[in-house]
Parts: sequence; C-alpha cells; structure tokens
Amino acid sequence: MKAMPFIICCMTIGLVLPVLAAQHNEYPVSPPPFSEGIFPCSTCHAGLAVNTRKRQLKDEHTAITLRHAEKERWCLDCHSAGNRDKLRLADGETIDFTESYRLCGQCHGNIYRDWKAGIHGKRTGSFTGGKRTYLLCVGCHNPHDPKFKPLKPEPPPVRPKAQYGK
Ligand code: HEC
Ligand code: HEC
Ligand code: HEC
Ligand code: HEC
Repeated sequence: MKAMPFIICCMTIGLVLPVLAAQHNEYPVSPPPFSEGIFPCSTCHAGLAVNTRKRQLKDEHTAITLRHAEKERWCLDCHSAGNRDKLRLADGETIDFTESYRLCGQCHGNIYRDWKAGIHGKRTGSFTGGKRTYLLCVGCHNPHDPKFKPLKPEPPPVRPKAQYGK
C-alpha cells in the first residue's frame, strides 16, 4: 500500500503531460531571435516604472523605430506593461515570446494560416510524425519595421520558343 501515492502521482503526470504538450507544442518553433543580453526584459523592467506615454525613447531601445501601423498603436499594444517578459494580445491575454506568431496572426490571418500549413515562411523536419520546427515570423520580419525593402527585380525569364505550340 505504501507505494500507492507514488503510482497515482506518476499515472497523473503520465496523463497530464501529453495533454499539455499537445496544447503548447503544436507549433514547435526555433528560439526567438533576441539580441544578446536583452532577455529577460525584467532584469531592468522589474525595477522600472511603466511609462505608457507614446514618446521617443531616449534612455534605452533608441535603435527601435516603429514603422508598423505606428499611427494607430504603440509599444504596449504588443508588449505586456505589467510583465515585460511577455507579449500581449488584443484581448489582454499574455503569451510567451515563443508564441509571437499568435500576436502576428491576430491581424495577418491569411498569412498565419499559410504559415501553419507550411506554405508561408519556413518549416524544417518531417511532414508527419517526427520532429519539425517552424521559424517564427520574427525570424524573417522585424516586428517593429516588418516591411522588406524593395529588391532590384531580376530580369524576366527568357520565353522558351514554340514550346507550347505558339
Ligand atoms: C507589432 C507588435 C510590436 C510593437 C508595436 C512593438 N514590439 Fe517590440 N517586439 C515585438 C515582438 C514580437 C518582439 C520579439 C522578437 C523576438 O522574438 O526576438 C519584440 C522585441 C522587442 C525587443 C527585443 C529586441 C531585441 O533586440 O532582441 C525590445 C527591446 C522591444 N521589442 C521593445 C519595443 C519598444 C520600445 C516598442 C515601441 C517603440 C515596441 N517594442 C513595439 C513586437 C512589437
Ligand atoms: C538594460 C535595461 C533594459 C532591458 C534589458 C530592457 N529594457 Fe525596455 N526599457 C528600458 C528603459 C530604461 C526604458 C525607458 C526608456 C525611455 O523612457 O527613454 C525602457 C522602455 C521600454 C518600453 C517603453 C514603455 C515603458 O515602459 O517605458 C518598452 C515597450 C520596453 N522597454 C520593452 C522592453 C522589452 C520587450 C525588453 C526585453 C525584450 C526590454 N524592454 C528590455 C530598459 C531596458
Ligand atoms: C494590430 C494589428 C497588427 C499586428 C498585431 C501585426 N501587424 Fe503587421 N501590419 C499591420 C498593418 C495594418 C500593416 C500595414 C501598414 C504598415 O505596414 O504600417 C502591417 C504590415 C506588415 C508587414 C508588411 C506587409 C507588406 O506590405 O510588405 C509585415 C511583413 C507584417 N506586418 C508582419 C507582421 C508580423 C511579423 C507581426 C507579428 C510580430 C505583425 N505584423 C503584427 C497590422 C498588424
Ligand atoms: C522564412 C522567412 C519568413 C517567415 C518565417 C515568415 N515570412 Fe512573411 N514574408 C517572407 C517573405 C520573403 C515575404 C515576401 C516579401 C515580398 O514579396 O516583398 C513575406 C511577406 C509577408 C507579408 C506581406 C505579404 C502580402 O501579401 O502583403 C506579411 C504580412 C507577412 N509576410 C507576415 C508574416 C507572418 C505573420 C508570419 C508568421 C505567421 C511570417 N510572415 C513568416 C518571409 C517570411
């Protein structure tokens, strides 16, 4: 009888863990591409007052310029004011940086759907079973200034002659 609590405990974990894994590892991702030393943000922010005023930052993060629907919003629409180590969805839910695709997906629904299906972005590993990894949106797009600068177009391909009977 003495071993009972142990068995029950392990059975419970055995049941609970796969459920949690299914919820949280649905889209296993590559690590967020943070600059060295910036995370956890709370190293500094735990001791800083929150300043919700839209302003030009002067003391830190001076390299960040918002060019992403910046007229309609500001930093704290995406970053949690109360816990800087988390992102914030429109409904107020806070999520980890490893789930930043959910933030992007709120406004870019079609691309998000394509990303999940492996059409947009990049996915490595096997298609079924096995381990596969998704590259986060922010692995390619700067969340603060996501638009790619226009590239010089390649010359048009040479049209193969008479290949289709024309
Ligand atoms: C559209 C949503 C969005 C807005 C608006 C936004 N951020 Fe971010 N920010 C992100 C996401 C997503 C990341 C995570 C990138 C990653 O995973 O490395 C990030 C990363 C950062 C980082 C870490 C950068 C690094 O060097 O690794 C800092 C600092 C930051 N944001 C500050 C700000 C500040 C300050 C503002 C306002 C001027 C702001 N953010 C506005 C989404 C946003
Ligand atoms: C080295 C210390 C330091 C680290 C690390 C740091 N911050 Fe900050 N952050 C600051 C300071 C200082 C300010 C205020 C700058 C100003 O007012 O000019 C600030 C301001 C901000 C703001 C503007 C809103 C506010 O409360 O003033 C956001 C958003 C922000 N930081 C996000 C982040 C995120 C996200 C990370 C982690 C990815 C991060 N910070 C890491 C020091 C830091
Ligand atoms: C609150 C809504 C909202 C969220 C959240 C959001 N975006 Fe955007 N995004 C926009 C709007 C609106 C535009 C077009 C206006 C602009 O570029 O300033 C845009 C533009 C873009 C573009 C440029 C599209 C082009 O025409 O080239 C990219 C790429 C992009 N977003 C990626 C992201 C990524 C990655 C995230 C998550 C970190 C994200 N967005 C989060 C609203 C959003
Ligand atoms: C492997 C890199 C990569 C990843 C990961 C990625 N993108 Fe893109 N994205 C691109 C490229 C390349 C383009 C095309 C840019 C162009 O044509 O100018 C693009 C275009 C876009 C555009 C503009 C397209 C349009 O039709 O206007 C948006 C918005 C966008 N991506 C959002 C996202 C979001 C949201 C995610 C994550 C769910 C994501 N991207 C993941 C590389 C990536």
